[in-house]
Amino acid sequence: MNTPSAVSAGLIHIVGAGGLGRETLDALFASGRKPDDLVLVDDHLRDAELHGVRVLRPDVVTWGQYVVAVGDPAVRHTLGERMQQRGLTATSVVHPRATLAHDVVIGSGCIVLANAFVSTGTRLGPHSQVQYNATVGHDTALQEYVTVLPGANIAGNVSLQRDVTVGSNACVLPGLVVGAGTFVGAGAVVTKNQPADRVLVGIPARPTTTR
Ligand SMILES: CC(C)(COP(=O)(O)OP(=O)(O)OC[C@H]1O[C@@H](n2cnc3c(N)ncnc32)[C@H](O)[C@@H]1OP(=O)(O)O)[C@@H](O)C(=O)NCCC(=O)NCCS
Repeated sequence: MNTPSAVSAGLIHIVGAGGLGRETLDALFASGRKPDDLVLVDDHLRDAELHGVRVLRPDVVTWGQYVVAVGDPAVRHTLGERMQQRGLTATSVVHPRATLAHDVVIGSGCIVLANAFVSTGTRLGPHSQVQYNATVGHDTALQEYVTVLPGANIAGNVSLQRDVTVGSNACVLPGLVVGAGTFVGAGAVVTKNQPADRVLVGIPARPTTTR
């Protein structure tokens, strides 16, 4: 799927009514969506309403599209599977003030927030997120469930393998590979290839613990 600008028609369920859920809601409002087109799905805000949008429990959702607005890749995976089991299909949400090159390829279930910049030749794997003010350089590939947190900068020709998270204001230098499940801490600078399942902090980024 190649959808740099918008979301498709139909009822969209935003799974998770926390901070990222409300940011995703804002992106949809900015795209012209009305409250009646939208549903927030959350276990903890039963039968409530937020900004005019219904909040439902996951077990009463029956049809439409969904996007999981949760930062943690493992939780995103679990909640997405629940929606798939209920017959919903994943859709992507791109804020109209995000900048995406014409040839960016976006998988289903992605979220791209305002002021993100995604350069030419990049691929955003299914259920990946590029949050506000983050940048993704040319020809970089994000595999599924990758999370780029606010203000992080991923240089060109980088490969972020599945479930990688890059913290706020962290930087990954050009051409590097970050292994699956690794968490790059806020403000870290990744200067060489990294194995899977590490937590990295500092400049240059070094492992703290193995998860
Ligand atoms: C790296 C990170 C995942 C570690 O989390 P954690 O395992 O809970 O680690 P702790 O908070 O227990 O800290 C452990 C140690 O690492 C240090 N540390 C934590 N994060 C750090 C970072 N980003 N850079 C440098 N040092 C860091 C702490 O100071 C602490 O040091 P100490 O043992 O000398 O006191 C987390 O701190 C982080 O950076 N998360 C990114 C958050 C983010 O970008 N959020 C954006 C949301 S919008």
